[in-house]
Amino acid sequence: MTATIIDGKETAKEKRGQLAKEVEELKKQGVTPGLAVILIGDDPASLSYVRGKKKAAEAMGIRFQLDHFDASFSEQELLEVIDQYNNNDDFHGILVQLPLPDHISEQAVIERISPDKDVDGFHPLNVGKMLLGEDTFLPCTPAGIVELLRKTGIDLSGKEVVVVGRSNIVGKPVGQLLLNENATVTYCHSRTADLTAHTKKADILIVAVGKANFIKADQIKDGAVVIDVGVNRLETGKLAGDVAFDEAKEKASYITPVPGGVGPMTITMLAHNTVKSAKRSI
Ligand code: GUN
Repeated sequence: MTATIIDGKETAKEKRGQLAKEVEELKKQGVTPGLAVILIGDDPASLSYVRGKKKAAEAMGIRFQLDHFDASFSEQELLEVIDQYNNNDDFHGILVQLPLPDHISEQAVIERISPDKDVDGFHPLNVGKMLLGEDTFLPCTPAGIVELLRKTGIDLSGKEVVVVGRSNIVGKPVGQLLLNENATVTYCHSRTADLTAHTKKADILIVAVGKANFIKADQIKDGAVVIDVGVNRLETGKLAGDVAFDEAKEKASYITPVPGGVGPMTITMLAHNTVKSAKRSI
C-alpha cells in the first residue's frame, strides 16, 4: 500500500482563510485579535518558529507583538512582562516560547499567564478542562493533529491509538483529545518495555519523540494512519521527522510529511485560539 499524504499546508490554508474572515468580522465590531509572543534567548529553532507564527498571524489580520529578550533575562522580569500583557486589553493571547533557559521555571511562567489568555492551552486550569472535555483553549499541536485526522474522514471512535512520546506539549494532550473522541489510547515512552509490540497494533500511530527517523516501516501495521510530529534538523541541513518517511509511506494508509504536515496546523490552531479569545472578550 502506498499512503495518501495528509497535506497539512492545504488544511492549514483553508482554516486560515476562515480565520481571516472571522478576524474581519471582529474588526467591524471594534476588536482586533492581538497575540503577544515572548521569546527569551536565541535558540535557532525557537526563532524560526516565532517568525513562522508572526508571518501567519499577520497574514490573517491578527495584531502580533514580539518581545525578544536576552538569555540573561530573569524570571522576575519575565513574570512582570506577562503581568503587563495579562492587564492589556489589546492582547487576547500570550505565548511564551519554550524551552526557556534553565534559570527560569517553565511551570511558574505557564501559571502566571492568565488562563483567559493562555492560547497555548498549557495552564493547569485549561489542561484540567481539556481532561474533563470542557470548552477551553486546546493545545495547538494536539488540536491540529485532531483536525488533520478529521480531514481524512476516518471515524476515530474505537480506534487503537498509540502515542509515542509523553511530553506535556504534545504526547500527553494528544492522547487525551483522542480519548475524548472515544479512541483507545496507549502511551509509549523511553521506558516502554517492547515499543514495537505496541506500535504494530496501532490503527493510528502518533510519534513525538524528537529523534530523526526513529520509527521504521517494520514497526507500523499495514494500513495504519501515521502522524509524525518530529522536526529534526539533519547534518545535511534538511529536516526529517521522527518516522522514516520513505519506507513508512509504503506501509501506511495515510501519513503526514515533514515539513508540511503537522507544523502548519500548530500555527493555525494558535491563531484559532487567539480569535476564540478575542470573541470571548466581547
Ligand atoms: N515550543 C515548541 N512548541 C511550542 C508550543 O506549542 N508553544 C510554546 N509556547 N512553545 C513551544
